[in-house]
Amino acid sequence: MTKVLARIPATSANLGPGFDTLGMALSFYDEYEAEVIDSGLEIVIHGEGKDTAPTDETNLIYKTMKLVFDANGKKMPNIRLTCHNNIPHGRGMGSSGAAVAGGVMLAAGLLAPEIELSEQQLLEYGTELEGHPDNVAPALFGGLTIAWVDETGPHHKKLAVHRGLSPLVLVPPHQMSTKLARSLQPESVPHTDAVFNVSRSALLVAALTQSPELLLAATEDRLHQNYRASAMPETSELIEALRAEGHPAVVSGAGPSVLVLEDDPAKRLRAVELTEQKFPQWRALTLAVDVKGASVNGQSGSGS
Ligand code: HSE
Repeated sequence: MTKVLARIPATSANLGPGFDTLGMALSFYDEYEAEVIDSGLEIVIHGEGKDTAPTDETNLIYKTMKLVFDANGKKMPNIRLTCHNNIPHGRGMGSSGAAVAGGVMLAAGLLAPEIELSEQQLLEYGTELEGHPDNVAPALFGGLTIAWVDETGPHHKKLAVHRGLSPLVLVPPHQMSTKLARSLQPESVPHTDAVFNVSRSALLVAALTQSPELLLAATEDRLHQNYRASAMPETSELIEALRAEGHPAVVSGAGPSVLVLEDDPAKRLRAVELTEQKFPQWRALTLAVDVKGASVNGQSGSGS
């Protein structure tokens, strides 16, 4: 292949208690095109990040593509990379996870059919630059994913969510740095809080797949959200107000967006109205769960 087009979904990680583990793909996409050219590197960015994302070899999509070529003993070709970015940057919607998933898929597309990468290779390459797999796994494979890491590398299990699930992402105009959010977390937590999150994240898998009426209880967290709250006060205030009205609201990824996991579109509409009253400058995205994940030239990361 000499020209490939990748489509990558936004993702929301953590989903409340599932810190660095649970993630969900959403029906909101970036599209990246890579074309082999005679010489040089050309990167053109449209939409989100057009004035801020790097257009040289430090570009995350390019860096990931090169990593995949190197790992397979192939020379990275000269390319023109065109990015049509919709996923907002620094908002907890998986824009960097989308970039690395996109880099992996573009490289896979250019290497095929001579080299066919496995699902496991896609996840390993994607996780290498991102550090943790909770956004990369759903970006690549779609749906709800449980991701974990052991001495052999990252792994994932994809699950189908309950068909009534109606996700809502509330996006503020300001950004939050994942690095800063991670620096606010303590080295250790009380045993009771660890037990609290074990129970809620186990319950959350059941709530998302079978029993959405349990979502309010299942989205409670004590591992990360409170520690990070001082860095995103509007986010905390909105989550508190939404949860007080019975909406299962959590920080999306490292924030500052809010994810609401409703089991009914009417309740979702009420959550949008409450947000508009409180913070009219926030954007409300009423989305669906993306079940396909990343694709390159129409072929998805999970081969379907
Ligand atoms: N699990 C990650 C975090 C997601 O909350 O820091 C953001 O990359």
